Amino acid sequence: MIMQNIEPWAHCTGQRPAPSTRPMNYRHAFHAGNHADCLKHSLLLSLLAALRRKPTPFAVLDTHAGCGIYDLAASEAARTGEAARGALRISANAGPANAPFLAALTQAGFPAFYPGSPALIHAALRPQDRLMAVELHPEDHARLKAHFRRDAQVAVHKRDAWEALRALTPFPEKRGLVLIDPPFEQEGDYGRITEAMALLRHRFRAAIIAAWYPVKHRAPVRGFHHALMEAGIAPLLAAELWLREPTDPQRLNGSGLVVANPPQGFAEEAGEILPALLAGLGADEAGAGSAVTWLKP
Ligand SMILES: C[S@@+](CC[C@H](N)C(=O)[O-])C[C@H]1O[C@@H](n2cnc3c(N)ncnc32)[C@H](O)[C@@H]1O
Repeated sequence: MIMQNIEPWAHCTGQRPAPSTRPMNYRHAFHAGNHADCLKHSLLLSLLAALRRKPTPFAVLDTHAGCGIYDLAASEAARTGEAARGALRISANAGPANAPFLAALTQAGFPAFYPGSPALIHAALRPQDRLMAVELHPEDHARLKAHFRRDAQVAVHKRDAWEALRALTPFPEKRGLVLIDPPFEQEGDYGRITEAMALLRHRFRAAIIAAWYPVKHRAPVRGFHHALMEAGIAPLLAAELWLREPTDPQRLNGSGLVVANPPQGFAEEAGEILPALLAGLGADEAGAGSAVTWLKP
């Protein structure tokens, strides 16, 4: 588990549950607007901007969507203070490369609220585009459903992300983005991402596929990158930001986004966004840094 869960939500069946019915403790409300969200959402906006450059319709599948929008005055955000050290800090120290990110936040009601990935994607859709948002947690799904009620451009699904990935791709639009953002609460999420990206690269070549991952310690990240390359996923790049040397496996020292089939110019744009984020976060611990690396050009 990458982050501590403060209010466990659990049920017990008396038997070892199947993957999709295991207790889900992770609640993104405690973490919304943290440094990992800032990295993921800044890069997500860059990918969406690239999709908008062509007039033909696109679709987005957000496999782990969360609630949609988060109240930063709510007790969850206050208890962790992660948004205060993340998006709120960046908004006070923003550089030009952070401008699209901050504009999208402001449009969604920041600093009172912080938009999650489905809200950011929804704001980037044109009339011809659509969003499929998948969330399995009953409460978060109910909030997400309420957020997009009566919105014909958004389909909200309460189903397992890994099953939905297979069922909802390829898109009839023949282009778009799949965002994979598991909580890394269960063992095996690196493997599930690798499998999903390999499958999507095979059956839906035009899709951009982006997957978030934690950077706590270097060894598991190296193993993950190696597995993606071994699976033949190309072109593939990794964009990472870390607040300190990632040597403590108990801390979320940083995070990254692997992007398969990235749009032209994305690597260069990410190369400007990440140092600006790092500066905005005021990362002053030894070993802080960022990198954009082609794993397979
Ligand atoms: C990191 S949060 C998502 C944050 C969101 N993508 C954003 O950027 O705003 C991960 C979400 O995945 C949900 N989740 C966990 N396992 C899932 C599964 N197997 N299928 C669908 N959703 C799942 C969790 O309930 C949680 O809301």
